[in-house]
This record gives sequence, structure tokens and C-alpha cells, in this order.
Amino acid sequence: MTTQRKILVTSALPYANGPIHLGHLVEYIQTDIWARFQRLQGHSCYYVCADDAHGTPIMLRARQDGIEPEQLIATVQKEHEADFAEFLVEFDNYYSTHSEENRALASEIYLKLRDEGHIATRTISQSYDPEAEMFLPDRFIKGTCPKCGAEDQYGDNCEVCGATYAPTELINPVSAISGATPIEKDSEQYFFKLSDFADMLQQWMRDGHVQPEIANKLDEWFEEGLQDWDISRNAPYWGFEIPGAPGKFFYVWMDAPIGYMASFKNLCDREDISFDDYWHSESDTELYHFIGKDIARFHTLFWPAVLHGAGFRKPTAVYCHGFLTVNGQKMSKSRGTFIKARTYLDKLKPEYLRYYYAAKLSSGVDDIDLNLDDFMQRVNSDLVGKVVNIASRCAGFINKRFDNQLAASLPDAELYNELVNAGKSIASEFENREYSKAVREIMALADKANVYIDHNKPWVLIKEEGKEAEVQAICTQGINLFRVLMTYLKPILPQTALKSESFLNSELQWHTLSKPLLAHSINKFKLLMTRIEKEQIDAMVEQSTEHLEQIEKSEAASGPLVDDPLAEQIQFDDFAKIDLRVAKIIKAEHVEGADKLLQLTLDIGGETRMVFAGIKSAYEPELLEGRLTVMVANLAPRKMRFGVSEGMVLAAGPGGKELYVLSPDDGAQPGMRIK
Ligand code: MSP
Ligand code: ZN
Repeated sequence: MTTQRKILVTSALPYANGPIHLGHLVEYIQTDIWARFQRLQGHSCYYVCADDAHGTPIMLRARQDGIEPEQLIATVQKEHEADFAEFLVEFDNYYSTHSEENRALASEIYLKLRDEGHIATRTISQSYDPEAEMFLPDRFIKGTCPKCGAEDQYGDNCEVCGATYAPTELINPVSAISGATPIEKDSEQYFFKLSDFADMLQQWMRDGHVQPEIANKLDEWFEEGLQDWDISRNAPYWGFEIPGAPGKFFYVWMDAPIGYMASFKNLCDREDISFDDYWHSESDTELYHFIGKDIARFHTLFWPAVLHGAGFRKPTAVYCHGFLTVNGQKMSKSRGTFIKARTYLDKLKPEYLRYYYAAKLSSGVDDIDLNLDDFMQRVNSDLVGKVVNIASRCAGFINKRFDNQLAASLPDAELYNELVNAGKSIASEFENREYSKAVREIMALADKANVYIDHNKPWVLIKEEGKEAEVQAICTQGINLFRVLMTYLKPILPQTALKSESFLNSELQWHTLSKPLLAHSINKFKLLMTRIEKEQIDAMVEQSTEHLEQIEKSEAASGPLVDDPLAEQIQFDDFAKIDLRVAKIIKAEHVEGADKLLQLTLDIGGETRMVFAGIKSAYEPELLEGRLTVMVANLAPRKMRFGVSEGMVLAAGPGGKELYVLSPDDGAQPGMRIK
């Protein structure tokens, strides 16, 4: 047997201001399967996580709910822990970044970095809300996109044209907190000198600690040049005050990854594990971080540099996964595909999702799609139809006719060995996070097991005289094949594995599979898994469908939206510059990949224009076709992600379902000018 590895794995720490949803679960399920697999191989593997409890959004959310942040994060943490437990995500420790261990470690690391000369201070100018009396993170500033002119865009990027920019570039910026116009204000900030670590990071990357796709990304970042990283925030801020810097707090992304260490520290103190073995030496322990691709920069640039600079070990690897889409699209509250963990659990069993994600996951960073029809079909046919079926077809005879006793030998040892020998490649697929390949291989073996039973028909033989021993042998073979398959599936389906263990009266262990269960007494078979019914999925989607008012309410919780400030006055000449025309909508279509837009083909009196309009939430495209509206005909063409928009259609209303496209009275003709 190989030597026992000492492994520590983490998943990213979920923010403590929102519920766990099916997107998050890709990661926690991926990591949990890997950790369970390692333990099943006989290795030591600790899996720790925590809530990411600091930062402005959490501070504001608590303020809005009229509670202290401590109260908010305690409530949310309870919910997170309950969701994870029910999804069978088994942490050795689940903690919070708002803990004494984390405060101590963050201070220690910061002071070490400072003493080694890796911290610089500089006065910089940042957006400040004079009404709320606080500095504004980019996400809390809204305004008009400087690139395409789309209104109501966040301070860091435009959802319409995809441009990224600094909040200072926004046109007519407003604070999302108070609605005030932000001003620029100077203050002193603390920077981590990332460029001190450029060589170390390049070497680390070349040594293969990240996936190839991420290495490419890192190359781009290296080329752009490594900028100093602002790790401080001004009061009021919800977090840890920086030692020796009154009124300055650690930026949430500074203490969040340290939360991995703090959670582990808390476990070490409780269970007498050596913290230093895992965080000081790289030689005999392994450290892995599972994360989503959106936070790769924090984990592959800042984090290894911070660790290195403070005298700690660097991660053995950072494993990045892609994002979840549902039915081929971004999760959406209005489509009912923004599904919370809790809503899923109300309707469906956790193992269905664990299996489906495993069947989709690979080692790459590609997005994965949860297609709800495919999900139902796949779970029903693979798990219920193939795997569980093997046991249920054989168990009854052994239970009833043979007093629970398995035969003393296998009739088809070759087939049994084939399944056992496949364990090697299945193990390497799990190890390499190629779960979809492992699942495909396991299901191909399940097909073989079913063919064996179909071929030998114990239910026919049992009716024949003198064939008892044969039936017992065939069923013993079937049950042993089931045992091998269930062992391979154990990291994915821990609950069904547990039930199978009690049925088999034997623990499922990878390394004992070469020895089949013979002349062994099993227990009564109980139903292991039931089919998914279409109604359960429909009910889950229905329950996840939020109507406009609810969406606005939940947006208010994460950062309130404000009305546009009063428009500036203009002169008649300014107005006269706008060429407003009556237009006939000759075609209206959905735009692939766009959440808010419809594509309209307009006739303005012999001339055809193509326009993208953000009215999808309020109109079915078919209902628009044929009707007259009003358009700005001389707006400079705008290049958007989906094509060029040649003008703008006028609509009124706050947005969402409440949007009203303007139309002229009867009699107006396409192309008429509006004066
Ligand atoms: N708090 C930070 C992580 C700090 S780690 C030191 C954070 N939290 S999060 O709640 O937004 O996300 C937690 C993890 O879930 C991240 O790795 C993120 O990539 C992942 N996912 C969140 N939504 C996701 C999908 N829709 N699909 C797949 N993974 C997603 O980021
Ligand atoms: Zn834009």
C-alpha cells in the first residue's frame, strides 16, 4: 500500500450576507467528493471552511435589517451550515472569519509583511458619499456607462456592453446608499507590494500549481505588471482594525483567505493536530484550495505572495472550476432558475444533485450546465435504473430463499475482477478531478452487471426444479458487483453508500474489493433510492420564481437602487438635435445570452434600423410586432456585445415588468418626425 498522504483542503468561504444556492454547491460538492475520495483511499484529509463575514455589503445589510453585524453573520452561518450538512458536505470544521483566531493570524501576517518591508502607505483619492459619510466601494456607485451610455450601471463594469472602468469614469455617478453625488476625498491607505513577489510567483506558476487555463491568465497579469494592492479600508468598516493604524481596517479580501488558516487552527486546538505541519512545511503535507474562476486572482497572485512574504508555505495547488448555468443560461430569479439550496432540499434529495454535478465536472474551468430535464433523466436512468436496480433484483432471493446467506464462490470471477481492476483508472480520475470520466466508467460497468443479470435471469431459474444453488450463486455475483460499484460511488453518494453498507452488512472499502463477499450473511434489502418526479422539479422552479416586487426587495438588501437624480435642464436647441421618429416594429426577437434585451427591427419610412432595447422583462416579443413606437433616429450607433444598435426606442417606467413602450395615436405613419 502507498504511504498515507497528509492533506488539507478548503472551499472558498461563502459571504455571510446571502443564502447558499445551487451555483455555490458546484464547488462544495466538488471539494467534498475529493476529500471523501482521499479518505476512502486511506489518506488523511482535513476539509475546512468558514463564512466570509466582513466587508461593506454585510455592514450595510445589517444596518438595513436594524441589527448588529454579529447578529446577521451568526444567523446566516447557521443557515449555511444546515444547508451544507443536508447536502452531505462534511467539513472537519466550519468557522467564521470574524473569529479571534483570524484576528490573531491576520495581525501576525500583516506585521510580518510590514516588518519585512512589503507594506507601503500612500495617500489616494477615492469616491466618498458626503451624506452617508463613508467611502464607497465600486459596487455602491451607479451611473451611466462611459462607453455605451447605458444607464444605471455599477461602478466597476457595464452589464450592457461589458466594459470595465473606474467608478470615476461613470457619467452622473450617484451613491447607491444615499443617492448623493459622490465626491473625491483623499486618505492614507496601506498597500501590499505585490511586485516584490513577481519572480517567486512566476516560478510557482511554472512549477505547475495551477491549471493551464489559469497559467495563461497569470501570464496576462504578469504582462500587465503587478500593481500594489490596497489592503486597507477607512472607518466605518466591518472587519478587523489594522494594528498600529487606528481608523483603518483590513480589506475583507485580506483577512478572508487567512480564514482558511484560522478555521484549521480552531480545529487543531480542538483535536490536537499540529498547525505548523500544515502551514510551515511544504515537504510532507499538501494544501489545496478549491475555488471558482471569478476569484482566481486573489488565490493565485495575492494569496501565495502573502503567505510567502509572511513566512508560511504556499498552496500545493489551487483548483479552479467554472460557473453554473441552469438550462443553458445564467441563473435567473424571473425564470425561477436562481435556486437556493433550501428550496432544492424542500423538494429533492441531495444525492441527485451530487451525482449530476459529478457527472458534469472535469478538471477544467469550463462552465457547467444544470439542464433540469437531463438532470431528471440521468439520475433516474443511471442511479435508479442501473445501479440500485442491480441490488434490488438480487437481494430478494438471498433474503427470502437463502436465509440472507451469500454463496461460497462466484460463478463469474472474471467479470468480478474486471470491475475491481477498473478501480485503478477510476481512482486516478477522481484524483485528477475528472469526475465525469469516473462516472462514465462506473456506469459502463453497471451496464455490464445488468447484462449479466438479464442474461442469467434468476427470476426464471427460481421456478425450475433443483436450480436453487445456481440462483444463489447468480445473486451473490450480482450483489458483489453492486458492492464494487457502490464503493466507487461512495464519495459521490455517501448516504446511499451508508444504506448499502447496512444492507451488505459490511463496510465499503476501496482496498478490500479484491476479496468478494462470500459465505457472508447480508441484511434485509430496503429501498435505496427513488425516482425523481417531474412535479418535484416544477415545484422547485415555481418556488424559485420571484416576481418583480420580490426581486426589487432582494436587490435592496444587497445594495439599494436609487432613482435617477433630477435631470439637468437643457435648451431648445439641445432638444432640436434629437431626431425623434415614428417607427414600426416589424420584427422583435430574443437575443441569445442577453438577460434584458430584445432585438427590434424598425421601419422608419422606407429605412430599416436594428435596435437593441432593454425591455425583455416587460414584453413578449411577438406582442410588439406590428405596432408603432417612437425612436431616436440620430443616436450614434453603439457597438454592443450582441451587435450594433442603430438608435433607441423610447419607453417609460421604473423597469422590470413596469416598462411601457411609447406609441403615437392612430394615423401616425412610420418615418414621421416628432416635434
Ligand atoms: N467570499 C468570497 C470567497 C472568499 S475565499 C477566501 C466569495 N464568496 S461567494 O459566496 O461569492 O462565492 C463562494 C464560492 O462559490 C466562490 O468560489 C465562487 O466562485 C463560487 N460560486 C458562486 N456562484 C457560483 C456559480 N453560479 N457557479 C459556480 N460557482 C459559484 O467569493
Ligand atoms: Zn456600457
